[in-house]
Amino acid sequence: GKDGYRHFMEKELHEHPLAIGQTLQRITDPTTRQLVLPEMPFDPATLPRATITACGSAFYAGMVGRYWLESIARLPIDIDVASELRYRNPPQPNQGMALLISQSGETADTLGVLRVLKKEQQKIVSILNVEHSTMGRESDLVLGMVAGPEISVASTKAFTAQLSVLAALTLTFARKRGVINAQQERELTNHLLDLPSRAAEVMKLFGAVRVMARVIAQARDVLYLGRGICMPIAQEGALKLKEISYIHAEAYAAGELKHGPISLIDPSVPVVAIAPSTILFDKTLSNLQEAKARGGRILAFTDAKGAERLSDIAEHLVILPDVDAFVAPILYTIPVQMLAYEVALLKGTDVDQPRNLAKSVTVE
Ligand code: F6R
Repeated sequence: GKDGYRHFMEKELHEHPLAIGQTLQRITDPTTRQLVLPEMPFDPATLPRATITACGSAFYAGMVGRYWLESIARLPIDIDVASELRYRNPPQPNQGMALLISQSGETADTLGVLRVLKKEQQKIVSILNVEHSTMGRESDLVLGMVAGPEISVASTKAFTAQLSVLAALTLTFARKRGVINAQQERELTNHLLDLPSRAAEVMKLFGAVRVMARVIAQARDVLYLGRGICMPIAQEGALKLKEISYIHAEAYAAGELKHGPISLIDPSVPVVAIAPSTILFDKTLSNLQEAKARGGRILAFTDAKGAERLSDIAEHLVILPDVDAFVAPILYTIPVQMLAYEVALLKGTDVDQPRNLAKSVTVE
């Protein structure tokens, strides 16, 4: 049941801390506090490259995974949505890995890629919530998330659980590829293991998010901006808003704003920024100043330090706990999904069963 919540989506948003915590706990060695994944069906040290694929939200989780695996584990990645990759016929390396991400394990296009790449001799590793699924049976290795059942059509806690597994995979590969030292690994691992507590603090932000939601609910179009590792979180936010509130939203890499979409900006098109104070903060800030100068209404998710710099230009801020840049995409997902939920409430849509959508897309 809904445990007293109005919707499954509301309940599942509250389960983010649990989904992250349980997923990490399953792969944390209790004595060393090291993240330990099952043995890979190949040697990560000599893996030449990997392909990541998925659909929808799971694809955006894969985009975060690409940033991590490339920048931390130094592994070259090809990534595409499954419906495209399926028919692209790209050359595959000897002994490569295909990494599939799916909550249900039944999505037709992702399964289609699994079968195509298996024929190409790629080792199939799947990150799944439903482990006893078709993808689970056909994979060489399943990395399970422990998110629990997700009933709401719009994915929430499965996304942060997927990211938790991807982060653990990144650290494991980085260790085996010899590109990270023990102390760096320990620090990054600790940031991850601290996340359930930080995520629990984020649950207190529903009120602040609701204020922001009132601006969005009036709009016909919304622009989401992020940079680097937070760009896919902007994409996840725009998808979730479209999906459950039926408001048109687009996500852009903040640096792309001046290459076209800036012409859309006026007071009727709110700009939502995912802007933790990481190394790219100043660049995002200057993009937001450009949007503001053209009459844009700026709404931002940031931390205390970012808030000081954004207070002049932003109409509403949601201020998150300080976290390391490595784990910021996981934490920032939560209020971004909360925003879509609060807007849908204001719009009075069918939050758990949005029109035209099914929880599991088993046809092409
Ligand atoms: C978005 C959403 C969909 C799914 C997509 C993939 O909220 O729920 O975009 O993420 O259909 O589904 P799975 O993960 O089951 O393969």
